[in-house]
Amino acid sequence: MKENILITGVAGFIGFSLARKFLENNYKIYGIDNLNNYYDKKLKFNRLKILKKKKSFYFKKLDLKNYKDLEKYIKKYKINFIIHLAAQAGVRYSLKNPHTYIDNNITAFLNILEIMKKRKIKKIIYASSSSVYGKIKNKIFSESLDTSSQINIYAVSKKTNELMAHAYHDLYKINSIGLRFFTVYGPYGRPDMSLYIFADGIRNLKKFELFNNGKMVRDFTYIDDVVTSVFKLFKKFSISKKKTCNIFNIGTSSPVRLKKYVKLISDNLNKKPKIVLKELQKGDVKSTISNSSKLYKYINFKPITKVDEGIKKFVTWFTVYYK
Ligand SMILES: NC(=O)c1ccc[n+]([C@@H]2O[C@H](COP(=O)([O-])OP(=O)(O)OC[C@H]3O[C@@H](n4cnc5c(N)ncnc54)[C@H](O)[C@@H]3O)[C@@H](O)[C@H]2O)c1
Repeated sequence: MKENILITGVAGFIGFSLARKFLENNYKIYGIDNLNNYYDKKLKFNRLKILKKKKSFYFKKLDLKNYKDLEKYIKKYKINFIIHLAAQAGVRYSLKNPHTYIDNNITAFLNILEIMKKRKIKKIIYASSSSVYGKIKNKIFSESLDTSSQINIYAVSKKTNELMAHAYHDLYKINSIGLRFFTVYGPYGRPDMSLYIFADGIRNLKKFELFNNGKMVRDFTYIDDVVTSVFKLFKKFSISKKKTCNIFNIGTSSPVRLKKYVKLISDNLNKKPKIVLKELQKGDVKSTISNSSKLYKYINFKPITKVDEGIKKFVTWFTVYYK
């Protein structure tokens, strides 16, 4: 059976990049997004413009919070596989706007699961986040560790998604794969994320802040590696007959200090950064390092792109896109 695949959040960074991969591999993709203005909408429109060049891409502006419209859409296009990437992202934004995370990440996911139950759609891949590890003591994050110590509402919403997927698997046999992404970066990335903010600051000789005095550590994961991982997971999962309620880390497993990250960006842009060092912010985790061996065992692939290579590719794109 050829799947009728729905990608939610298709105008977003990861949704767009993944849809592109599917389209290049001759899949038909139904994509929805509410095109919210959390960040520059023009970037979302430009991503969609690229996707719409393919005849097998169908886009609809739709808000997942609207149960009736969503159900009508899923019924009309006989969707039978869902890749759910839409969400209100961002840790800092969640400190000031907690309600939007409950609505867009929890209620929206419940709508999807309820429609899956009703329409007997049996498989979903959905985005979780490395932030579910929260204040865990272990330095390296493996899926088997206890994750009951989230420290911001964004992370709480993602952990809740994992619990909901578990409950719907148990109750209604909905099979799921949750993806704990570790700081994804690359061309067409999110303007609210560090790489963008740093690159913009350095290029325009603007001051920008480095929290935890630049000692923050992140496991940066290049977008192409994320796309390859999810595509391979889809291929295996979509034909599998096994009952599945699984979670995978998707990370490079090579931690980088933010100071080094900034240096790489400034070297590539050939300009000096104007850094303002700041204390650790509330809700921020000091370090994220993935153990992605479970992913590797399952699909024989894990993220591999080195950060200097990834930043070089990003800066090349960034300078052309914003010239
Ligand atoms: N980028 C990362 O580093 C990262 C890390 C961990 C987890 N994630 C998760 O991966 C997923 C994709 O992230 P991204 O970086 O592409 O974010 P993004 O903000 O670029 O994309 C999300 C898209 O979802 C859409 N959206 C939000 N609420 C919606 C709703 N109610 N109905 C329909 N569309 C809605 C937005 O308009 C946006 O285009 C998200 O679930 C995010 O939480 C991302």
